[in-house]
Amino acid sequence: SIFRSVQSAVARNSPRRSYSTDSVPERKVAVLGAAGGIGQPLALLMKLNPLVSKLALYDIAGTPGVAADVGHINTRSEVAGYMGEDQLGKALEGSDVVIIPAGVPRKPGMTRDDLFNINAGIVKSLCTAIAKYCPNALVNMISNPVNSTVPIAAEVFKKAGTYNEKRLFGVTTLDVVRAKTFYAGKANVNVAEVNVPVVGGHAGITILPLFSQATPKANFSDEDIKALTKRTQDGGTEVVEAKAGKGSATLSMAYAGAMFADACLKGLNGVPDVVECSFVQSTVTELPFFASKVRLGKNGVEEVLELGPLSDYEKENLESLKSELLASIEKGIKFANQS
Ligand code: NAD
Ligand code: LMR
Repeated sequence: SIFRSVQSAVARNSPRRSYSTDSVPERKVAVLGAAGGIGQPLALLMKLNPLVSKLALYDIAGTPGVAADVGHINTRSEVAGYMGEDQLGKALEGSDVVIIPAGVPRKPGMTRDDLFNINAGIVKSLCTAIAKYCPNALVNMISNPVNSTVPIAAEVFKKAGTYNEKRLFGVTTLDVVRAKTFYAGKANVNVAEVNVPVVGGHAGITILPLFSQATPKANFSDEDIKALTKRTQDGGTEVVEAKAGKGSATLSMAYAGAMFADACLKGLNGVPDVVECSFVQSTVTELPFFASKVRLGKNGVEEVLELGPLSDYEKENLESLKSELLASIEKGIKFANQS
């Protein structure tokens, strides 16, 4: 966990211990959109991660300050800030993992798809640069609408001849984080022990938590499951409304993004049995992209896991999310190919 990573970072820097990074490979992580609401706390959390040796913070503005600030923290990684498009190549060069929280967030009354017109172009240009400067990096896409931005990235990489479906991830970890929190609260169990897969996509009804597979088991009524499902699906909107015009989830998202990037790094480093939910190219359903449990390894995606047994309620929800999810995927593909 992040907490254990922080503890070991502190231990590593303790003068009473011999400092050795022999067994920990060098890993460069780039954050694109690093001066934003997500980007800043995400930069902080990645600076605390002892698996990172270089941290590149890129944005169109504000990164010198963020990099100077985060760079004073006495943990392993070297931090550098990059500002403006002419520094993007340097930020990306040599990256093992690129995390993308660049783009505009929602205001009350908006759907994630309402962000498409602005964010699609941002993602397209960032991915064009990734194809050029670090085509082998694992890409962690946070920018919304994830259901469309991941297909856009795939098309950009295909055009550049660098696409590898094992290396492209839509970050849906926040849905899992929320499902765990809400489930544990309702079941009154230790949240640290809770596991809930969340599949589908990352918007409204396309977010499908599989509470029938949640552990530890709890005796919930159908109504309870419906309420937990709806709260998970509307978790983003809950934050957007509470922030009342000041944006969407940033702190919980930074935590979720840091957890997912940590899992990617562990996979790259050969740690066995690293499994996280993510929106990836998939044959688990008839849709070309789908979120499900994914085993991470040295090449990125090692295995996209099947959905497993679903309750009747989950089966119904799965069928009814498919048309919206497919439309969002196709919208992304069309955008990438026409513009
Ligand atoms: P924000 O406005 O606070 O920050 C976005 C940052 O992106 C800004 O610093 C901005 O300068 C930067 N940016 C804009 N264009 C850029 C470009 N071309 N290159 C690099 N940086 C650029 O927004 P935020 O709250 O951090 O949210 C960012 C995105 O993440 C939004 O699209 C939001 O919807 C999405 N999001 C996704 C999830 C998820 O679960 N996947 C969760 C929360 C938010
Ligand atoms: C979230 O789930 O919090 C993000 O996708 C941001 C949003 O717009 O809800």
